[in-house]
Amino acid sequence: MTASLLAATGVTKHFGGFYALEKVDFEVRAGERVGLIGPNGSGKSTLVNCITGTLSSDEGTILFEGHDLAGLPAHRRIRRGIARSFQLPRPFAAMSVLDNLRIPLLYAAHTHGGKWRSEEQAGDEAMDILRQMGLDAKADEKSGGLTQVDLRKLELARAMAARPKLLISDEAMAGLSSNEIDEIITILLGMKERGIAVVMIEHIMRAVVHFSERVAVLVAGRKIADGKPDEVMRNPEVEKAYLGE
Ligand SMILES: Nc1ncnc2c1ncn2[C@@H]1O[C@H](COP(=O)(O)OP(=O)(O)OP(=O)(O)O)[C@@H](O)[C@H]1O
Ligand SMILES: [Mg+2]
Repeated sequence: MTASLLAATGVTKHFGGFYALEKVDFEVRAGERVGLIGPNGSGKSTLVNCITGTLSSDEGTILFEGHDLAGLPAHRRIRRGIARSFQLPRPFAAMSVLDNLRIPLLYAAHTHGGKWRSEEQAGDEAMDILRQMGLDAKADEKSGGLTQVDLRKLELARAMAARPKLLISDEAMAGLSSNEIDEIITILLGMKERGIAVVMIEHIMRAVVHFSERVAVLVAGRKIADGKPDEVMRNPEVEKAYLGE
């Protein structure tokens, strides 16, 4: 059995009297591909924010590689290997695509050996990531002029620059065409080959079912199902949550 990479247990988060998450257990194994789904407002992004340290949970524990993340600020969690892409990418529009990766690699991210990169190393590594994303031909273009699908790819590239063990992709496909969705799925599937576990948050069920080895479902802050994609999709409670009553 593969070891647990992320193990969140009993995670609870409320905003005033409103419970956005209630006793949620969520596990990801090393290299696993997990879909996290649920209707709008069900708590998916809130759970991600608790995992990445953007929010602190009110109750529960979150272990990453067996270590409790409690009290660890977001930037230290990134360094441990947790990266996320945002629902609304905001690259530095005036910078080139390459510089949007090169600059953080140069100034914000240590190599695994704990050293800073040279200008040349940062440039090479940035190009390498752009190639993985199919963005290398646009390296010199201004990020502000990118199409939606390329913006999503740049956002995933930025997350990859942190060399994560776990990548959480929060709605990287919303508003894209069917072909573009397939391009993003291919990129995310490629991460598995690099040993990276991926959590895909997505409303596009075709993508979730195609991509995921396991699917967890949140409804109104509670996890109502967790298992093989086809079984979860046939679960009457899940159907009810999506189709309404
Ligand atoms: N900072 C906050 N303050 C108050 N309420 C919040 C805050 N963040 C989220 N919420 C509320 O918590 C609930 C869960 O929100 P969340 O963004 O986690 O949902 P989601 O599942 O990611 O939805 P979507 O699919 O629309 O992205 C929503 O009702 C939301 O309005
Ligand atoms: Mg969300």
